[in-house]
Amino acid sequence: MTRDSKPAVLVTGGAGYIGAHTAKALHERGFTPIVFDNLQSGFREAVQWGPFVHGDIADAAALHQAITTHDVKAVIHFAGLIEVGRSTKRPDLFWDVNVAGTITLLTVMRECGVGRLVFSSSAAVYGQSDRGSQAAIVEDDAKAPVSPYGDTKLAAEWMIAAQCRAYGLRGVALRYFNAAGADPSGLIGEAHEPETHLIPLAIAAALGDGPALTVFGQDFDTPDGTCLRDYVHVTDLAAAHVAALEVELAEGAFEAVNLGTGEGCSVMQVLAAVGKAAGTPVPCAIGPRRAGDPPSLVASPDRAKALLGWTPSHSSLEEIAADALRWERSPSYGAGVRRAGGARRA
Ligand code: UFG
Repeated sequence: MTRDSKPAVLVTGGAGYIGAHTAKALHERGFTPIVFDNLQSGFREAVQWGPFVHGDIADAAALHQAITTHDVKAVIHFAGLIEVGRSTKRPDLFWDVNVAGTITLLTVMRECGVGRLVFSSSAAVYGQSDRGSQAAIVEDDAKAPVSPYGDTKLAAEWMIAAQCRAYGLRGVALRYFNAAGADPSGLIGEAHEPETHLIPLAIAAALGDGPALTVFGQDFDTPDGTCLRDYVHVTDLAAAHVAALEVELAEGAFEAVNLGTGEGCSVMQVLAAVGKAAGTPVPCAIGPRRAGDPPSLVASPDRAKALLGWTPSHSSLEEIAADALRWERSPSYGAGVRRAGGARRA
């Protein structure tokens, strides 16, 4: 298909980690990504594959204008607050941005006749249900979020599903497990502030740019005692968004899909992979458990395969660690700024 035959897609939060990788994937598939971001946690430098609109999802007029100016036909909605710990202290903010913000977006989409939405959801909607501690999670499993962050993602999914039923919107919610890695170009990658995620912290420790890594507990009921997570390369996640945008859906359909590999990796396995990629072991110490960490979070990837034809192809720990390391060593925004001795944010 030629670029002209594919529509403009509004990417809210497209200057963030997964959003920027998805904008690149959209561009590569012939779509025009219109990045709409308030730059509170995103980076202007990450917007490289289409027009940028500096705006906030709370601002209905700005959304309206972006959609009409660029003749937007579909939306991928990433914009939101993501720090689980902070959500326990400021649930009001999380409900305001993640739920009220999504309602504003849905209203504007309805007014503008935009009939297609892909929503950035999370494994946090499941929480700790009573499944066997290492069983893979399927989409119909019980939803029992253990943080206000998870509550807001689930509430937003409900809102979207209701809009789909009410007026024919077609929606897909993608529930990410552990997003990791970076685009192999080194142009974009993970740059959170503050950084709390395992792989960037492990790389910083290995490169001597940060303190030794604290392993949060080694007394879980798992093979090596550390938590199991399902790490998915961000390039694979980005591809799933494009697939979710293109999949045939009936009018009014709403689908929720896990994005994971089906395989759990322990904290120790991750540290070994990062150490191997860096050529030096990750300095680490065993500490106490972190509140709220379930022993195992692994996705069943079956529905993603059946519905989207999606199978992760870059999500080995080796590839994730190598790409994350290339990004952390790059002079690009975020990583490069931090390595130069400043804050990660330019
Ligand atoms: N970990 C450590 N030490 C650290 C940081 C993390 O041992 O310094 C461990 C954690 O205990 C966990 C694993 O590494 O077992 C992964 O932790 P991350 O913080 O990288 O990721 P989480 O699994 O906690 O969180 C991810 C997403 C959230 C999402 C959640 C869904 O980042 O946005 O999965 O459950 F909500």
